[in-house]
Amino acid sequence: MKIVRARLSNFRNHHDTAFEFGARMNVLVGDNGQGKTNALEALSFFCLTKSFYAGADALAMRRGSASFELEGTLASDDGREFRVRVAYDDAQKRKKYSINGAESESLSSVIGMFPVVVLSPENAAVTFGAPGDRRKFADLVIAQSSASYMEDLLEYRRIVRQRNRILAEAQGNDCRAALEPWSEMLAAYGARIVRRRVRFVDEFLPIILESYRHIVDEREVPSLRYATAVPADGTEEELAGALRAALLRRHREELRFRTTLTGPHRDDIELSLDGLPLRQFASQGQHKTFLVALKAAEFFYLKERCRETPVFLLDDVFSELDEHRSRRLLTLTESLGQTFITAVSEKVFGGAEWNGERRRFPIAGGSLISRTAAA
Ligand SMILES: Nc1ncnc2c1ncn2[C@@H]1O[C@H](COP(=O)(O)OP(=O)(O)OP(=O)(O)O)[C@@H](O)[C@H]1O
Ligand SMILES: [Mg+2]
Repeated sequence: MKIVRARLSNFRNHHDTAFEFGARMNVLVGDNGQGKTNALEALSFFCLTKSFYAGADALAMRRGSASFELEGTLASDDGREFRVRVAYDDAQKRKKYSINGAESESLSSVIGMFPVVVLSPENAAVTFGAPGDRRKFADLVIAQSSASYMEDLLEYRRIVRQRNRILAEAQGNDCRAALEPWSEMLAAYGARIVRRRVRFVDEFLPIILESYRHIVDEREVPSLRYATAVPADGTEEELAGALRAALLRRHREELRFRTTLTGPHRDDIELSLDGLPLRQFASQGQHKTFLVALKAAEFFYLKERCRETPVFLLDDVFSELDEHRSRRLLTLTESLGQTFITAVSEKVFGGAEWNGERRRFPIAGGSLISRTAAA
């Protein structure tokens, strides 16, 4: 897919900004705090129905205004065009997402139609951060390629919240009877989620090996492993049984901690390089390279699963990469699909020819500055 044009109204620091994008590379360039990342964030709304940050929709309204509106034209690989509109109204506290004028009731049905891969400074948490950061990464990739996974995940979260409420209200007293139906559901949904994530790791592994080689010539071998408390190699029923048994076994502990201690919300995806855990052993550069390889792998994975070429949003990626790796990353992403890149300087694009396919957008104070004014 491609994003052909976009218009941002009262979104973050953009009052009214309109872009006509190039088919390959789009560089948003400008000083700090001018609205480059904000523009990428707007594009993520078209693909994900929400921001690639966790931020609430209301925060995206331009300070002092009571709504925001994003309009875009997206084109699928087979050339069909979609008019996508995302509007948030503070009075109704409601966001509307529509395609060609028809409002999408279930947002999970939209995810995956317009696949997107985002590489931004927050993503550093995928390799540096806690298990939750890696689960979030895997969940977003799987969800973009499977609408039912997204629904399972939302339902699972609701179940965990219910169980935790019962555990909190029990104040340390036995509450097995009240937990019983929720434990049953947790086991059923949990088993489905664990199975899906295990399959994802299996499918993802050869792709990351391949994309790692694209980015570095060094003979480092990356690996991923799904780490979970119960044996995950059996059938879904066996896994559900194991989860149920673990919940019963840990009942006393759960009463003490007043929270659900077993299930996919506690799992991890362990990353390693040459057999050594990334978190303890890898250098800064190896972390970054691993992350870039994960993102490139995400691109290939989504392209195959969604049968649609994802767009790449690269926010501020060059600040931590040396010039050689930056150029390599640029060449790679540009050869894959349409890319949107923010940068404070044009240095890394040195010698690039700006034309219909490759465009640069100088941004200052939440507006595009005209080419003549910028020159
Ligand atoms: N809801 C909002 N209303 C108005 N302005 C906002 C809102 N949210 C953020 N901003 C402003 O947007 C600016 C930051 O924009 P953005 O993050 O896009 O900068 P950037 O161009 O990516 O800068 P950098 O190079 O530092 O990453 C800040 O000045 C911030 O105050
Ligand atoms: Mg930024």
